[in-house]
Amino acid sequence: MQALPIFFNIINRHCVVIGGGDVAARKVTMLLKAHAAVTLYSPEICAELREMADAGQIRYVQTFFEESQLKNACLVIAATDDVAVNVAVSVAAKAQNIPVNVVDAPDLCTFTMGSIIDRSPVVIAISSEGNAPVLARYIRTKIETMLPAAYGRIAAIAGEFREQVKVKFATTQLRRRFWEGVLQGPMVERVLSGQEQAARELLQSILNDADATANKGEVFLVGGGPGDPDLLTFRALRLMQQCDVCVYDKLVSPEVMELVRRDAELIYVGKSRDQHTMPQEEINELLAKLALAGKRVLRLKGGDPFIFGRGGEEIETLMQHGVPFQVVPGITAANGVSSYAGIPLTHRDYAQACLFITGHLKDGTLDLDWVAMSRPHQTVVIYMGLVGLKEICEKLIEHGVPATMPVAVVQQGTTQRQKVVTATLADLAAKVALAEMKPPCLTIVGEVVRLREKLNWFNV
Ligand SMILES: C[S@@+](CC[C@H](N)C(=O)[O-])C[C@H]1O[C@@H](n2cnc3c(N)ncnc32)[C@H](O)[C@@H]1O
Repeated sequence: MQALPIFFNIINRHCVVIGGGDVAARKVTMLLKAHAAVTLYSPEICAELREMADAGQIRYVQTFFEESQLKNACLVIAATDDVAVNVAVSVAAKAQNIPVNVVDAPDLCTFTMGSIIDRSPVVIAISSEGNAPVLARYIRTKIETMLPAAYGRIAAIAGEFREQVKVKFATTQLRRRFWEGVLQGPMVERVLSGQEQAARELLQSILNDADATANKGEVFLVGGGPGDPDLLTFRALRLMQQCDVCVYDKLVSPEVMELVRRDAELIYVGKSRDQHTMPQEEINELLAKLALAGKRVLRLKGGDPFIFGRGGEEIETLMQHGVPFQVVPGITAANGVSSYAGIPLTHRDYAQACLFITGHLKDGTLDLDWVAMSRPHQTVVIYMGLVGLKEICEKLIEHGVPATMPVAVVQQGTTQRQKVVTATLADLAAKVALAEMKPPCLTIVGEVVRLREKLNWFNV
């Protein structure tokens, strides 16, 4: 982030605008919307600004720019078509530590205003930090269409009840839960359909009936998918936004972590091979403990919680403690990674079955069902198989799989960091070592790997 987004209260505060054209008029309109006391300096002004001055909405001083005009200003905007004047305003404002915006000159600014969606009291500002203003406008249009105008009225009604809610619920956690329930319920629909009084009455009755002490925790066991945040389910995203605390693993990608509620407490229990930051039993107990303390706990795991994810063990412990929970499936690595690598796991001509196997070494040895893995017309997907890769390839050849069988190893599949190595069983280990592949890596063995040549679509 190159700049900190903030919302600046300028009600009745002295703001200075230098310039008198249409662009200045647009900036003045924005300042007036935020109830600023605007003084405008310019030798001449356009008709729109003249009207504002005549109506007493702004104070207009007909003069050229001078440094002294910025004295006591809380904010300055330069909107002249004279570069030298704009530079002078910027220099003078910076010297006096006054936030300054110079139209269309990001280098001269100490603040910019972004693209604004106004559903007052809800206001959204979008910035591309000057890199792509058109994209920012496009995003704004998209959000505009998703956000009914009535959202401002919902916020206003919520504001009316704020004090009452504060009195009734002792903690911010309880208050937040109350509002989350309200905002997902019928009160919103009433406002959207124009029945504001009915919405107020409904909100009042929900508030009256609400149990002010109920503080039941629960656990959301959520699959975060293989990495690309677009592969999250709607439910995963919703629960990620509602948690008080997030207990997460190494495998969850940074892009997915970005979508967890900003204020949630984050607890890393990450595991990498042989380096269990927290033993599984302790993780199980931690989840129960947090939920029993009234927290809504997001247990966020890479891929799917029930595929080599030990999710079953975690919810067994929750059941023993009587903690309520729900499980949200995620796209498992085999599905996500194979799709993004252009390798269909089954295909009418090549594979009619698919095996998901863990290649994790237990006590330093690989104890796998080699006979089942060596059958023809199937695809074998190996999770956690990077360390034992050489041995896996040798064993498969030993059990009758042709040494020429195509294999792919995919590192950090579905992300912008995806790396793919294709080879045969005979030369895979050497090629993977040469490419310096690092976990997480998924191995796909089978004739279907040949299809990647034709079907590869995701190039990073
Ligand atoms: C402990 S398992 C967890 C699997 C997870 N529960 C799932 O459903 O995908 C970890 C292994 O999943 C595989 N894996 C997960 N995400 C991956 C990704 N984005 N790219 C490649 N392999 C991945 C790797 O084999 C990694 O060693």
